Amino acid sequence: MSQKTILTGLQANSTFHIGNYVGAILPMINAQKNLGADDMFLMFVPDLHSFTLPINHANFYQQILDNVKIYLAAGINPGLSNTLLYRQSFVPAHSELAWILSCFSYMGEMGRMTQYKDKSEKHDNISVGLFTYPILMAADILLYGAQYIPLGDDQKQHIEIARDIAIRMNNKFELQAPNGLFTLPKPWKEQLDFMGVSEGIRIRSLSNPEKKMSKSTIDPKGTILLSDTPQDAAKKIMSAQTDTIGEIHWDWENQPGVTNLLQLYYLFGIETREEAINYWTGKTRYGDLKKEVADKIETFLIDMQAKTRVIQDKEVETILINGELQANLISKKTLNRVQKVLGLRR
Ligand code: ADP
Ligand code: TRP
Repeated sequence: MSQKTILTGLQANSTFHIGNYVGAILPMINAQKNLGADDMFLMFVPDLHSFTLPINHANFYQQILDNVKIYLAAGINPGLSNTLLYRQSFVPAHSELAWILSCFSYMGEMGRMTQYKDKSEKHDNISVGLFTYPILMAADILLYGAQYIPLGDDQKQHIEIARDIAIRMNNKFELQAPNGLFTLPKPWKEQLDFMGVSEGIRIRSLSNPEKKMSKSTIDPKGTILLSDTPQDAAKKIMSAQTDTIGEIHWDWENQPGVTNLLQLYYLFGIETREEAINYWTGKTRYGDLKKEVADKIETFLIDMQAKTRVIQDKEVETILINGELQANLISKKTLNRVQKVLGLRR
């Protein structure tokens, strides 16, 4: 098997919710378990991405540390070889490459990003940063030659654009991977295969299952934060919106609320998706399904919160500083290569 680089980051604008956990953190934990000796495993905090929409800067530094505590409490092992945890803003090559990539990216392609369209509709005074967000994300990925980027379904277009930009620049400078300018991130289908799923993971809001659960939207009843008390979380599940069909089926089209609960049931349990679907299909008591999901999530939160509480800020900072030292070395190499082909360096 050839060497793999696996990388992801979760925007640090607020506390995480269970969608962030199953969409991005859980696939990373699984990936780390299967890591080969030559593979690289990179998990970072995209802290510069966080101001693309307004945030509370007063507690931002602590927020970042708290987010990394979640990575660790969830089971990411910072001590494994070839594993780095770092903050984007501590590795200046990210911003430098982002500027360069922005000069090889088009207004039209950025304007087509659905996340940009969604978020810009919901807010006034949209920043240029929100528009160019995918370019910084492409830099995050291309600097390390990451092929696999575990992410939720909402980020599909961003992976594709990173791949498009890399292909465009490899072609322009007539340099192809592996010895060329950029290693290409794998296409979306291969990303799904890597995560072991047949469709991208998208947890829906409990109060409005047409929409995804999101920390960027104010929807306290629909969102289970990892910091919610286990009792509150259970209550939110028990009052999740379902439908009047009266029978459980895996059917996103007609029963998104019920299907969302089924999805949570297997993601937070030990059964596979197929086993969960087989067991619940045709049953009529939505309350039973809710109760089972509520119990699983309650247990999960109790455990996660206990593990998070005992991790100290200092411990996290030490891990990050060590990761940043190495991330700077790796990313500088890629940046140098790019600077050379651009004619900025000899
Ligand atoms: P949010 O919409 O909550 O602000 P982010 O854009 O910060 O989420 O996403 C952080 C990570 O969590 C990304 O990998 C994203 O794909 C994943 N993610 C976000 N929401 C969900 C969801 N509802 N279901 C699955 N994954 C999600
Ligand atoms: N866009 C991701 C999110 O919304 C965060 C992110 C930034 C990211 N750069 C990345 C994820 C690079 C994976 C790879 O959470």
